Amino acid sequence: MRLTLLALAVLLAPALAVKKQDFKECAQTSFCRRLRSIASRSEAAAAEQRAFESPYTLGSGAQTPSTSAGSWTFPLTSSLYPDISFSLRVDALEAGVVRVRADEVGSATKWRRYNETARWALLEAEPALSASASLTTADGVSTVSYGAKEDGLTLEITHSPLKIVQKRHGTPLVVFNERSLFHVEHFRSKPEPAPEAVEGAEGEGEGEGQKVLAAPETPDRSWFEAEDNDLFEERWKQWTDSKPKGPEGFSLDFSFPGSDHVFGLPEHASPLSLPSTVGEGSYYTEPYRLWNVDIFEYVADSSMALYGAVPLLHAHNKDSSVGVLNLVGSETWVDVAHTDAGVKTHWVSESGIVDFLLLPGPRPTDLFKQYAELTGPAQMPPQFATAYHQCRWNYNTQAEVIEVQDKFDEVDIPLDVTWLDIEYAEEHRYFDWDKKNFPDPVKMQDEVASKGRKMVAIVDPHVKKQDSFRIYTDSRDQDILIKKADGNNFDGWCWTGSSVWVDFFNPKSWEWWTRMFTFGVWKDSTKALFIWNDMNEPSVFDGPEITMPKDNIHVGGWEHRDVHNINGMMFHNQTQHAITVREADAKRPFVLSRSFFAGSHRYGAIWIGDNLGTWDHLAGETAVFLSNSIAGMSFVGSDVGGFFGNPSHEILVRWYQAGAFMPFFRAHAHIDTKRREPYLFDEPIRGYIRDAIRLRYQLLPTWYNAFHDAATHGYPVIWPQYAYFPEDEGGFAVDDQYYVGDSGLLFKPVVTEGATTTDVYLADNQPYYDYFSDRVFPASAKPRNVTIDTPLESFPLLVQGGHIVPSRQRVRRASTLMWQDPFSLVVALDRDGNAQGQLYLDDGEGYGFESGEYVHRALSFKSKGYAGSLASTKTGDNAADNAWAKKIAHVGVERVVVLGFRGLPSSVTVGGKEAEFEFKVANKGGESSVLVIKNPGVKVVDDWVIEIA
Ligand code: NOJ
Repeated sequence: MRLTLLALAVLLAPALAVKKQDFKECAQTSFCRRLRSIASRSEAAAAEQRAFESPYTLGSGAQTPSTSAGSWTFPLTSSLYPDISFSLRVDALEAGVVRVRADEVGSATKWRRYNETARWALLEAEPALSASASLTTADGVSTVSYGAKEDGLTLEITHSPLKIVQKRHGTPLVVFNERSLFHVEHFRSKPEPAPEAVEGAEGEGEGEGQKVLAAPETPDRSWFEAEDNDLFEERWKQWTDSKPKGPEGFSLDFSFPGSDHVFGLPEHASPLSLPSTVGEGSYYTEPYRLWNVDIFEYVADSSMALYGAVPLLHAHNKDSSVGVLNLVGSETWVDVAHTDAGVKTHWVSESGIVDFLLLPGPRPTDLFKQYAELTGPAQMPPQFATAYHQCRWNYNTQAEVIEVQDKFDEVDIPLDVTWLDIEYAEEHRYFDWDKKNFPDPVKMQDEVASKGRKMVAIVDPHVKKQDSFRIYTDSRDQDILIKKADGNNFDGWCWTGSSVWVDFFNPKSWEWWTRMFTFGVWKDSTKALFIWNDMNEPSVFDGPEITMPKDNIHVGGWEHRDVHNINGMMFHNQTQHAITVREADAKRPFVLSRSFFAGSHRYGAIWIGDNLGTWDHLAGETAVFLSNSIAGMSFVGSDVGGFFGNPSHEILVRWYQAGAFMPFFRAHAHIDTKRREPYLFDEPIRGYIRDAIRLRYQLLPTWYNAFHDAATHGYPVIWPQYAYFPEDEGGFAVDDQYYVGDSGLLFKPVVTEGATTTDVYLADNQPYYDYFSDRVFPASAKPRNVTIDTPLESFPLLVQGGHIVPSRQRVRRASTLMWQDPFSLVVALDRDGNAQGQLYLDDGEGYGFESGEYVHRALSFKSKGYAGSLASTKTGDNAADNAWAKKIAHVGVERVVVLGFRGLPSSVTVGGKEAEFEFKVANKGGESSVLVIKNPGVKVVDDWVIEIA
């Protein structure tokens, strides 16, 4: 009977689900339960109306900080440990950002805290200080005035107890240590083993140290450092973390008075506006965890950790936006509490110095720029990378790769990139092709390239431990491998079997890794081959939580715990560099990474990992893209169709439609899934998929504009509703639709089965035009939902009035072949009959654009009464006759469609010459007027005006 029930339970259990037990909850990791419990004690005390004061104090009495221009360092003490010294340094940066660092000074132990996160995350580890910032101290409060005068930014530092408030014109935006949860665990010597304590240590550690202690009048040590038997060694399942440095965690609290919404902290499969993790009726019970993991079949709605970590949070209300960037690479958990006084957050990290930056906003756009100034702008991708990618685990032979190309051509579906997963490599020794199945990789790549296409091959960070493999012997002999706590090279299990991992934090590995990708060394590669870095969390199949032991050692003696979340970015960075410099005439690289950290946007694209081909995954992904995007990682996409499972035709079509609007558009599938390349389906399914992919190709100029804005200003490629309309409170929680760059294109994926209509939220007093029909949703002073018909072949795609959307209607088999094709412009007029747009063009592959080889046009439509004009003018300070402009001098505009024009045109002229046009008047059934101008005879590189009278 029991067996039958068991068997039944197995059968009924969902086939695909994350193994939650493989990943820790906060209470299962000693620093998290210790530091998180400070907040529960604080709350318990508050409930009983007992005082709870921070034990941290700056300086003593009238002591002033040591000062250098824009930077002040205060001695910091804690009444818990009067003999331990800390310091707190405050920098006012030129960007109007303040940086706060705290560290222990003169530890009696030999240990130091990891202090290099800024080196990897920021463009400059020490960004320029503001010489004009000033500090005054009165009545125990030091006030820093900084930033542009008109911004009225101040940082008020209360010395005792420590509290820091960032204000704009006197209004508090962020309060640090408002709840007195700030705490830094100082280094201490390992106590002699007390027999009882050792015996008491539990493997799983659940519940340990969670005992809520009676609150003292003034906090004592137990308040901040709950009893914990795992301080110097921690066991979990079969793994023991030796923790030689003992406890060195820290706890930060940031409150955002007046802000009810916080966004960011990617990567989580959660709503964009982060719901609460604590407090009555909280949405989640676990904090948002930042700990890069290889998580199989993840849950579509959860605060569990995923593959990447950007410790950046935006807090937003209709009057202002502020950001906190916490430069920490160790495991971090963040609790979010929504209260009547705004959002309160509590961050706990395992190791490293305290190093956070406060970004002042005041608008989301300002935050994007401030973040990009600190971390660098996103890479300008090669243009092909913004087109369609076809992947599968695996295309198994050279012949199959060519067959896939040909089949796309046969059914007239464009394709730019064909991918090779791990099976191309002999025994998963990346770089070594399986010559049985890929006898002539160069011929294959050349054949693909001859059609204007590219290939991507996977190169994972695990290195097969085999003496005949040069990557292994080289890295072993150069002593650049990650080590175990005992100093020997670490080995673990991955696709390759027994493997080692190169320490990409070690500068000695950099030049060597670059060399591995040169055409002289990797003889089977050509310049049509680009790279996919997977498994770089890193994934270690036999390691704790499927990753590396925390006490592994990197260069400089740093523990893996200190740098874990940064690890994937180091690999991505070095691969990207290698691909950039492999040709004398450097071309833009393309490297996809799974793992990422703050700053990874400098190195290429990411995707959101092993999703499931289910409706809930499709539905949840939009919020994940948006959350990644506002933290810089906006070259993002998901496996179209879902990595696991065999999606129905309907879900596949919907996923392709969603994919066509993901910044990174790639179909991918697990090795055990049924084949699902678009050409395999019968009509009408194939046609629906074809339409979605072709639409992406038509709109590539609009996507390229958005990528260019991301690379120049740090803007996301796709914009969440709140960032596009920062004052519209009704849109702050909307995370299932988004805008493409500044194009005015508003997209919403259809994510429910059988949906025949879909509602779209419109925030502003502008008309919105349906991209696929003449339908217009009129302007309205009130935000509203509009209902759009969404039969399987269609989905919501609207153009906000006031925008000009460039496209290329002729689609070729690869985007690289479309560079000479003419453009079309959709001019969607706003309420006043005006519209703006842009068109940015360069060669799509090189760095000529950095020295002025590009064309950038400002497009503008103005209505004057019942007449109007559309003008193209040059923008940018490059030469009008630069090499790229000359090369595309013959490229013209073949069609202009003006939506919402009020006049009844009698003539359309360009420089006095008549152009052919058609006009359809608006009707009361909700269709806009449509003016189509055919072949106006203008070239994209020239200044011109089309007059409508
Ligand atoms: C895990 C990746 O997430 C997936 O996309 C890939 O196909 C497999 N590794 C095999 O390389």
